[in-house]
Amino acid sequence: MSFDLPAGMSAPTPAVHAHEDLAALIRAGAPLIAIDTDEEPEVIQTFRHVIAQTLRPLFSWSVTQGLKRLDFADDVPGRTCGPSEVLQVIRDSTQRGIYLLLDFAPYLRYVATLRHLREIAQRQGCAEHTVVLIGTKLDLPAELERLATPFRMQLPSEAELSKMVREEASAFSREQGGKRVQVHLPSLNAIARCLRGLSLSDARRIARRLIVHDGALTANDVAVAAKLKFELLGDSSVLHFEIDDAKLDDIAGLNALKRWVAQRRAVFRGETPSGQLDPPRGVLLLGVQGCGKSLAAKAIAGGFGVPLLRLEMASLYNKFHGETERNLREALDRADQMTPCVLWIDEIEKGLAGGSADDGVSRRVLGFLLTWMAERKHPVFLVATANAIEQLPPELLRKGRFDEIFFVDLPDADVRKEVLELHLKRREIEPEGFALARLAELAEGFSGAELEQAIVSALYAAHAEQVPLSNTHLLAELRRTRPLSVVMAEKVEALREWARGRTVLAD
Ligand SMILES: Nc1ncnc2c1ncn2[C@@H]1O[C@H](COP(=O)(O)OP(=O)(O)O)[C@@H](O)[C@H]1O
Ligand SMILES: [Mg+2]
Repeated sequence: MSFDLPAGMSAPTPAVHAHEDLAALIRAGAPLIAIDTDEEPEVIQTFRHVIAQTLRPLFSWSVTQGLKRLDFADDVPGRTCGPSEVLQVIRDSTQRGIYLLLDFAPYLRYVATLRHLREIAQRQGCAEHTVVLIGTKLDLPAELERLATPFRMQLPSEAELSKMVREEASAFSREQGGKRVQVHLPSLNAIARCLRGLSLSDARRIARRLIVHDGALTANDVAVAAKLKFELLGDSSVLHFEIDDAKLDDIAGLNALKRWVAQRRAVFRGETPSGQLDPPRGVLLLGVQGCGKSLAAKAIAGGFGVPLLRLEMASLYNKFHGETERNLREALDRADQMTPCVLWIDEIEKGLAGGSADDGVSRRVLGFLLTWMAERKHPVFLVATANAIEQLPPELLRKGRFDEIFFVDLPDADVRKEVLELHLKRREIEPEGFALARLAELAEGFSGAELEQAIVSALYAAHAEQVPLSNTHLLAELRRTRPLSVVMAEKVEALREWARGRTVLAD
């Protein structure tokens, strides 16, 4: 489904409730309102809606523009005046008005200015004006703070974001002389959902980039929107946005896991009401190295159709006391802002193993992580992978931490055949001509990674002989390889033994 958005006029609309709340405040006689924001244009726009309800004149003042009346005669240049002069003008005005003072905070350091503003706010010998201080990091002196009502601009809702994206599409269309912008509706909605948690102007900047890029909004733009949002939230050495995603079909075997994910997709994405169903929260993938755990983590994000964020345990740790926990908190906060998403902790045992020099940090990290897992309210799906159990803290394995602990075992002959097939196809080699069933039979004990590696090496051998790849090349490679499960037979057996009865087989 897609439609072309015709060019049309529409002005940006501010958050629905903000202007009503502000109007109520003003009608209730608030003398001084402080709005800490970097969204100056949005705030001014909101006040234009406020005056429709309060019917009072609206002015703005800034050091560059001077004093301007905003409720009519928009184009009239401002009246040049300084910060103390503007306060005098306000004071002298007999008609009660609304005055937006932009970036006024620095002038409040002057005793006279401060005093003047206080008198206006206390309405000493002047009309009942409302003065609104708008700026970032408004740090009001104590004597003003008592008189001021702080007001927080609400973040835009999904509906408002969706409207904004449409507006941007129309605006782009106008700029291009009425050229039609192709908009894929479900993608537009997904983009709006992705932009939640951002201010309207940040979200608008992203929307504009998506549209200007190719003059269309398509399915591809959803992932790009997530990436741009992630970047906007600032640099992080701990949390990484994984671009390299996978589909469930890219994994051979692991059918139980794939089914599990497919069954939960709609609920996780909030597309169907969950009703009595508990929303999916996370899985632990435990198992033999090279059998597709990391691949599965990527494919789960692909299966859910949400961004994948990887938490890098190694860079979490910092030698400075307290930094490690702060890093973790910031990473988890950021994941919360990116919802819905998959948070992937690869080889979690390495990050939690601790050690004598560790000073209890890994215990605290574990505690923090467990609390977050228990209390998180946002749709962040946790995928943890582990190759070993002996280093895994028992608390992590307790019932209820994860929805399920899946055991990813060595592939059986059928799955091995599937792995060979998949990886031949990926290299654009038709699997038809190969005796894959027989080869798979012979590759007893091979992991998926080892099977893939056999194909890679066999291709080199064939290339060296300048002949096409054949069964003989593959067979030779399989014979040459001593799979890890043989080299480390005891360890693999111990892992399997442990998993029996404690985990669900991912196959
Ligand atoms: N079940 C599988 N299906 C397809 N490819 C696999 C499978 N298991 C392993 N592979 C291949 O081996 C590579 C390495 O596997 P990986 O997911 O890193 O294993 P693990 O994380 O369990 O150690 C994968 O990227 C993939 O190419
Ligand atoms: Mg791995």
